[in-house]
Amino acid sequence: MDKKKLTIPDFKEFKKAGRKIKMVTAYDYSQAVLVDKSEIELILVGDSLGMVMLGYDCTVPVTMDDMIHHIKPVVRGAPHTFIVGDMPFGSYNTCVADAVRNGNRILKEGGADCVKLEGGVAVAPVVKAMVEAGIPVMAHIGLTPQTATALGGFKVQGKDAAMARKIIDDAVALEEAGAFAIVIECVPAQIGKIITEKLGIPTIGIGAGPWCDGQVLVFHDMLGMYDRMMPKFVKRYANVGDSIVQALNKFAEEVNTGTFPDMEHSFTIKKEELEKVLSEIGPA
Ligand code: KIV
Repeated sequence: MDKKKLTIPDFKEFKKAGRKIKMVTAYDYSQAVLVDKSEIELILVGDSLGMVMLGYDCTVPVTMDDMIHHIKPVVRGAPHTFIVGDMPFGSYNTCVADAVRNGNRILKEGGADCVKLEGGVAVAPVVKAMVEAGIPVMAHIGLTPQTATALGGFKVQGKDAAMARKIIDDAVALEEAGAFAIVIECVPAQIGKIITEKLGIPTIGIGAGPWCDGQVLVFHDMLGMYDRMMPKFVKRYANVGDSIVQALNKFAEEVNTGTFPDMEHSFTIKKEELEKVLSEIGPA
C-alpha cells in the first residue's frame, strides 16, 4: 500500500473533498506497526492508555512521562501515519506556560505530529497560545474523560438545548483559537452534525454520529481486548482477546502433554559432537 503521512493542511482539504478521516489509538511499537500497515491515517496515543495499558480506573493519574514513554515507540512503529499525542490531566490546566512547555515535550521528546487536549471555551486561550508557539492542536469536546466526574460520569453530553448550545459554542471557540481538528465525544448525532456543518475544520467523532468528518475508536475496544467498560458507541471489529486466551490455553495444553516443543521447533547437534560429549561425561 502506498501510504503517505498527512500534514496539517491536508485536514482542511479532506473536509472540503468530503474524505473521511480514520483514527485509532495505539500505545506501543507492535500496535503502531499494525496500524501503519492499515488504511487508518491517524494514530492517537491517547491518555486512555491509563485504563487499557496501565490498569487505572480513569485517565486522571496519567503523567507526562507516561505519555512520552508510549508516544516514542508508536512514532518508531508508524512512520507513515500522523501521530497525535494526548496531553494528560495536569499538563495544561495549570497555566499557559505549562501547556506550551508540555506541548513542546510531546513534539520534541515524543516525536508526535500534534497534541490533543480536552475542554471548550475555557481552554481556548491555552489553545491559542500553543498554536502561536507553533504547536498544532487537536481539540476534544463533549464528554471529556479527564473531567468526567464533573460532567456526571461517562454519560452522553448535550442532550438538552442549553448543554447542546454550550458544546456548539465550545467548538466555535476552539476553531477560532486555531485548533486544526476537533474530537467530539459522546453527543447526540444531530449535535455532531450541526457542529460538523458549522466548522471549517474537520470533526472526528467518537459516539457523535455518522455525520462527523472522521471517526476514532480505541484500539483495545474495537479489537475486543478490554472488557471493563463497553460504551454503546464501540463497535467490535474482532475478538482478539478471546483468540489470545485460546492460544495461551493451547500452549499450556501442549506443554502439559509434551506435544510442544516437537523436533520442528528444536535444535540438534551433529552425531559425532554428541558422541564426544557423551564419552566425556560417561554413563548417566
Ligand atoms: O484518550 C483517548 O483515547 C481519547 C479518545 C477517547 C478520543 O481521547
